[in-house]
Amino acid sequence: MSAYLLRGVSVVGAEPTDLLIRDGVVAGLGRDTGAAGAEVIDADGLLALPGLVDLHTHLREPGREDAETVETGSRAAALGGYTAVCAMANTDPVADTAGVVEQVWRLGRAAGLVDVQPVGAVTVGLAGERLAELGAMATSAANVRIFSDDGHCVSDPRLMRRALEYVKAFDGVIAQHAEEPRHTVGAQLHEGDVAARLGLPGWPAVAEEAIIARDALLAGHVGARLHICHVSTAGSVEILRWAKRRGVRVTAEVTPHHLLLTDERAEGYDPVFKVNPPLRTRADVTALRAALAEGVLDAVATDHAPHAVEDKECEWAYARPGMLGLQTALSIVYSTGALDWDGIAERMSRTPARIAGLAGHGQDPAPGVPANLTLVDPAGTWVVEPGNLASLSRNTPYAGMELPGRVVATFLRGEPTVLDGKAVR
Ligand code: DOR
Ligand code: ZN
Repeated sequence: MSAYLLRGVSVVGAEPTDLLIRDGVVAGLGRDTGAAGAEVIDADGLLALPGLVDLHTHLREPGREDAETVETGSRAAALGGYTAVCAMANTDPVADTAGVVEQVWRLGRAAGLVDVQPVGAVTVGLAGERLAELGAMATSAANVRIFSDDGHCVSDPRLMRRALEYVKAFDGVIAQHAEEPRHTVGAQLHEGDVAARLGLPGWPAVAEEAIIARDALLAGHVGARLHICHVSTAGSVEILRWAKRRGVRVTAEVTPHHLLLTDERAEGYDPVFKVNPPLRTRADVTALRAALAEGVLDAVATDHAPHAVEDKECEWAYARPGMLGLQTALSIVYSTGALDWDGIAERMSRTPARIAGLAGHGQDPAPGVPANLTLVDPAGTWVVEPGNLASLSRNTPYAGMELPGRVVATFLRGEPTVLDGKAVR
């Protein structure tokens, strides 16, 4: 195994020092670290953060390998500073059996660029009718702990209760895509002034908030863990604050795009801005940023949702919802100013690693800790060019934007996956 000395690095904002990586772990921290034989990396002005962890990634394999594969998505993740991603279950076939989650887990290991932790479906085929084999997925080689029908809401309250009861036994968590489907039939954009002006059917905030309130009550009743995917409204934040105060075991994530963009971006009918849940209002964005800083929102998760050109570059109503996120997440979050670097480490690494139960991730670089870390140039900037992204898809809403904060290197168990801002493999 190789050794690297990061010379003059600042560990999560602390005074510059030297950091030695050897045999997969952080072997030393300090100016007089014995670094014989190590490759020296000039890290002057650079920050070392614990490797980022994404709770919500769509890798599209199996089924839509034209839009993304486990390997290409893993590469995009590494370039974005991630060392672990949770792969959502809405593949084809759906990841609702031990066989499929093990397949995704093996593909992740073979790519070897980030740890790919499969999420299992809650219901068979995401149909919302029968529970999937949660226990078999949990005891499989993929060791599934997060279950989600993401893309769909587990809308049947009795089924949701059963799922919470089931996963409580092994401290699993149900990650809910909160969308009361009867309120969003045909919905295209946030229900509000912009949708009214554009003549698009609205997706009301209450469709999200009603499910979060219901499921917080259910999780409290059962005593199980609940996680809310991609929280998008100010009202949801209020409900989460209330639930947490009552001691409900609920955590929640917010996406970079909901922290930056509003529904006004839909004015030109460019489907690159179509996403589920939809972009909301300026007031929602402000509330989400404050809640992330406060901790009512626990984590940033990308909802990286690659789509093939024919599924995205068409009339708004026919376009699939979703945006790329892995390579831009860190820069977008940094650009909002909602978090300092310690806050970014907390919300993009430590806390998501804890929610997902990923041992070895989410730990600040310190002697003996697995060397899963990312090296960031806080003063660097870069321009998003869709054609240069590692994803097989091109649906980034940030095309042409100059973003602050550049990932210089990423290490997975002591081996670089990214060096000089380029993927090693
Ligand atoms: O925008 C979205 N895209 N939201 C989801 O819930 C699913 C995702 C996808 O799979 O494309
Ligand atoms: Zn979703």
